[in-house]
Amino acid sequence: MKLHNISIIGSGYVGLSTALGFTSKGYAVIVSDPDKEKTKKIQEGSLPFHEPNLEELLKNAVKTGKLRCVPKCKEAILKTDISFVAVGTPNLPDGLIDLQYIEEASCEIGRALKKKTTYHLIVIKSTVAPTTTENIIKPLIEAHSSKNCGVDFGLCMSPEFLREGSALQDMLHPDRIIIGEYDKKSGDTLEALLRDFYSENTPPIIRTNLSTAELIKYASNSFLATKISFINTIANICEKIPGADVLIVAEGMGLDKRIGSLFLNAGLGYGGSCFPKDLKALITYSKKIGYQPTLLDSVEVVNKTQPYKAVELCKSFLTDLKEKNIAILGLAFKPDTDDMREAVAVPIIHQLLKECANITAYDPVAVPNAKSIFQDKIKYASSAIQCLKNADCCILVTEWPEFKKLAPEDFTKNMKQPILIDGRRIYDSSEFGRIMKFAAIGLGEIT
Ligand code: UDX
Repeated sequence: MKLHNISIIGSGYVGLSTALGFTSKGYAVIVSDPDKEKTKKIQEGSLPFHEPNLEELLKNAVKTGKLRCVPKCKEAILKTDISFVAVGTPNLPDGLIDLQYIEEASCEIGRALKKKTTYHLIVIKSTVAPTTTENIIKPLIEAHSSKNCGVDFGLCMSPEFLREGSALQDMLHPDRIIIGEYDKKSGDTLEALLRDFYSENTPPIIRTNLSTAELIKYASNSFLATKISFINTIANICEKIPGADVLIVAEGMGLDKRIGSLFLNAGLGYGGSCFPKDLKALITYSKKIGYQPTLLDSVEVVNKTQPYKAVELCKSFLTDLKEKNIAILGLAFKPDTDDMREAVAVPIIHQLLKECANITAYDPVAVPNAKSIFQDKIKYASSAIQCLKNADCCILVTEWPEFKKLAPEDFTKNMKQPILIDGRRIYDSSEFGRIMKFAAIGLGEIT
């Protein structure tokens, strides 16, 4: 097994999850990030975000020297053969992606390559709009290295499909690998590494050109977002039909192999650092190149309004929310992460505050991030039960496993008024509906 020395440029959850996936199979990895504070913390074995199974791996990789985290990109390039670029590509106010970090990294990589005499492969993992790798990254690396792509160095775009909360699992067991290549040698070099890494578990590999690989990432995330907005649309229709239940509708749809059951969980909308950003970027990019993506616009509109369903259902019981105590169970954009980026809890809480309600919220890990958003405008409970105390209504926003264990009595015993809005369909509507006022996304009047 020919081991490649690997470097990762950028220590966010994609960069670190990818790095620790490689070290978990014995590869030596150098991670570089200009944030000295962060690299020092990582080098001390402390993960800068909440992600299951990674903290232990990091401590072990640092102890064995398999992983080194350095502030200088130059060292990472000079001491390795292949570099994965996983820097952030946030959105600009107009929706297009902000290229500053990818441009900075490309210039630094170029400057380092200038001092290198052997072939080096650059693999873009950051989500970038189509043509970015060919038209922006390649010229910058060439300009700062005075070297030629395809000759002195190789270039690929290989998007990641990691989900927060299961990043390591997704890195070690991907459904497919996409290799967008500048030239055959670049593609062959990356394929050789990944076939070494996955060996007999190598998933299907698609070899294509750079811009198609870039678009596969956007299309995949936008399709998953479309599936969610679709089932939320059906859920909103179900609520108007006595006895209808989106859970059963989704089950009936999902058994059709052409549809599939995954990502048909109706709820309060999608959030996170990817779907909203990638959809916005694809819509804006598409309009810029002259195509009006009407379908994608609608996906975004449905998702923007979906969180307010929770407030609407709350008001269907309480009418006026002024001075009412509302308990919020779940703040993170989904379970198993502390990430509040584009979390639906944010617009829900903002709307409830606008209606002068008193908010008490609880989340197993995301409260520190929530405090940086809401400061002392809301109260933070230290447990689900404490959060329910003296509440007039409870909204279940994030489907953490511990909330699924709550029984109807936990609500009736602790709340002032046992009213429950199930925003993620984790509670049995007949069981809960029997002993308290209960409403749920996608559930028509219980007949
Ligand atoms: C997503 C993609 O899944 C991943 O492939 C890509 O690399 C990054 O973006 P992530 O954002 O971590 O991953 O979360 P994901 O598990 O996809 O959930 C995204 C959002 O959709 C969450 O807010 C989740 O609550 C919501 N969701 C998901 C639904 O509302 N219904 C579903 O059926 C599935």
